[in-house]
Amino acid sequence: MDINRIRVAAKERFAGVCRVCPVCNGVVCAGEVPGMGGLGTGTAFRHNIQALAECRLNLRTVHDVKKTDLSYRIFGVELAMPVICAAIGGIALNMNGAMTEEEYTQAVVSGCRQAGSIAMTGDGPNPLVFDAGMAAIGKEAGWGIPIMKPRETEKIVELAEQAAAAGCPAFGIDIDAAALVNMTNAGQPVGPKTIQELEYIKNRTTIPFIVKGIMTPDDAESCWQAGVDAIVVSNHGGRALDHTPGTAEVLPYIAEAVKGKMTVLVDGGIRSGADVLKMLALGADAVLLGRPLAIAAVGGGREGVEFVLNKYKAELSAAMTLTGTAQVSDVPVEILW
Ligand SMILES: Cc1cc2nc3c(=O)[nH]c(=O)nc-3n(C[C@H](O)[C@H](O)[C@H](O)COP(=O)(O)O)c2cc1C
Repeated sequence: MDINRIRVAAKERFAGVCRVCPVCNGVVCAGEVPGMGGLGTGTAFRHNIQALAECRLNLRTVHDVKKTDLSYRIFGVELAMPVICAAIGGIALNMNGAMTEEEYTQAVVSGCRQAGSIAMTGDGPNPLVFDAGMAAIGKEAGWGIPIMKPRETEKIVELAEQAAAAGCPAFGIDIDAAALVNMTNAGQPVGPKTIQELEYIKNRTTIPFIVKGIMTPDDAESCWQAGVDAIVVSNHGGRALDHTPGTAEVLPYIAEAVKGKMTVLVDGGIRSGADVLKMLALGADAVLLGRPLAIAAVGGGREGVEFVLNKYKAELSAAMTLTGTAQVSDVPVEILW
């Protein structure tokens, strides 16, 4: 298994729906939703990439960091690094059937477990999407985190309890899918949630609750007030609302508001171990990878996912050595130029 073979195989299987560009930056796939691109003009996707590119690292090699510690604990599980697979659902629709929903979720859930990471799984109007995620997680003894749409509150509670019964360490909602018309058209309404509704969900569920799709300090504070355990600073890979800033731009403000009070995760445009380190320096506790692991799964299945995660791990460790960062749990902002 090597990265070029994974990419060549992925490009062939995607059959044009993702061009597997040298840098996955949202340029050629702008507007391709459904598909793998960003919504509308595609600027929200591109802002994720630009924001990280504008953030530079200080190369420092006169220090005593001879060993790096990448281990990270979240929701009672031990990970080899602070890197989690983002939920990607609707494979038939978005990836032109490059894999079945079941094959895809099994590849990411198992590949992540193998590499010491953990996968989030998705949701959609077809119940098959959520169910495929739960089936894959079931085969890995609960090693996965289902993310459901911001459905009716009682339905979220019901699905969260299904996740708890399967042994999942946490569950979440992608609240930025609040205007997803294909859910509402399919008779499964979604919408924004009030602090009280989030609190209701938190109080009626038994495993940690993640809210994914937070882009402002105010919303982060509201989640904290509701008792939410973790947020994901995310613009859904630029697929929810056109023209949002990049996640690396808003992350420091959100971290300033809630870091230490709740877990702060982030995704969007993270394309290397150095990008992971930048996000940690900007205030994240851990990161999520979306499209890079989708390409890995389509091009190399479970082994592809494991391979790409190990590549990120090696890159992260090298970037830590070259910035004088000993531990992922303590990444000083001073490593940024
Ligand atoms: C094709 C596709 C489908 C997605 N489906 C979901 C989903 O079902 N649930 C969810 O929370 N996020 C979904 N996302 C968003 C990702 O979880 C994640 O936020 C995003 O891909 C991160 O950006 P990146 O791809 O640049 O890493 C999807 C993204 C893509 C590209």
